[in-house]
Amino acid sequence: LGEPVQPAHQRIPADILSLADYERHAVHHVEQAAWAHVESGADQGITLAHNRAAYDALRLLPEPLADLREAHTRTTLFGRELISPLLLAPVAYQRLVHADGEIATARAAMAMQIPMTISTLASHLIEDIAQAARSASRELGRSAPLWFQLYSQPERDTSLDLVRRAEAAGCEAVVWTVDASIKRSRYPLPVGVDAVNLRGNAQPRQTSDLMSENILFGTPLAQQAPRWDELAWLREQTRLPLAVKGILSPAAAVRAVDMGADALVLSNHGGRVLDGVVSPIEVLPAIRDAVPAHIPIIVDSGVRYGTDIVKAVALGASAVMIGRPQLHALATAGMLGVAHMLHMLRAELELAMAQTGCATLAQISPRVLQPHPR
Ligand code: FNR
Repeated sequence: LGEPVQPAHQRIPADILSLADYERHAVHHVEQAAWAHVESGADQGITLAHNRAAYDALRLLPEPLADLREAHTRTTLFGRELISPLLLAPVAYQRLVHADGEIATARAAMAMQIPMTISTLASHLIEDIAQAARSASRELGRSAPLWFQLYSQPERDTSLDLVRRAEAAGCEAVVWTVDASIKRSRYPLPVGVDAVNLRGNAQPRQTSDLMSENILFGTPLAQQAPRWDELAWLREQTRLPLAVKGILSPAAAVRAVDMGADALVLSNHGGRVLDGVVSPIEVLPAIRDAVPAHIPIIVDSGVRYGTDIVKAVALGASAVMIGRPQLHALATAGMLGVAHMLHMLRAELELAMAQTGCATLAQISPRVLQPHPR
């Protein structure tokens, strides 16, 4: 049955110097099946690996002697000033890796002034996560926005109810995820961890008859999957800024913006849905060119270092989201771990900006990248 699971550390292990170190530690703090679920990519993991390789293939050009006396990493998203272009991606079922789950993540996010996106599949109630964030903000005298990630539900009323709850809890934006409504999950949740925000709702079943003509197509999962008209509907339901997550083509980006999306999250879901699909960083320039300049573009999938953030911003990203490292840090050292993980990433970002001569995010341009050899 493998190694016994070790409890999370009460302090940060001294040998953690980067996000990769948290991943190395976390394996000892998470039950084996849950670990496989967190780490896995679809099929062969081609896209999972490519998400890293695509960043690694980009080369930075250092720029010495720049004036960094007024340097900062501040930016603005949806009218809110943020201390950095760094956000926590929606990540489901955080109690799989630590008993405090999303509550700990929310406290860490507020402590570090980093926005957190609450998943539809959170393992704590939206209201409880928001409450934890509020009290942490009050204690620490610092805060950051909470966003809510929506997976469309089979009934629009159920989706709407989630949005209303998120609004009432003080969430400041809705992130509508569109890349995973038809996917297969083989991971059975352990007892005690579930989608508490969806309790009582009917969920579409993924199984189908062995003899049926189609495997997924005939099932409620596919029949009830959201379509473009759902975006028009959702746009009418809320005044909150609306981001569409899971876009990877200029055509879909343009269509989403035309239908009222306020921002795009370029994502392949961390390589978890369709193997062989492109990585956000490589489609970013074309999508940046295709949509109006005032539309923020956020990228995720494979962001692990401050240099990745500089590369993404150089190619037109407004901000990045971090997925799995939240769970790695949470499993290893709970709330402290998540706060420390965010701190390291911010320190790396400042270092990378300093070395490329960028005093502000606005100064990060394609000039920091070695042009691709043809
Ligand atoms: C996710 N992701 C995700 N996305 C989403 O919109 N709603 C969700 O509930 C989840 N849940 C989730 C669980 C786990 C275990 C993982 C690893 C990912 C995708 C997530 O928001 C993000 O797109 C990726 O994790 C980004 O890639 P990296 O940073 O993990 O490489």
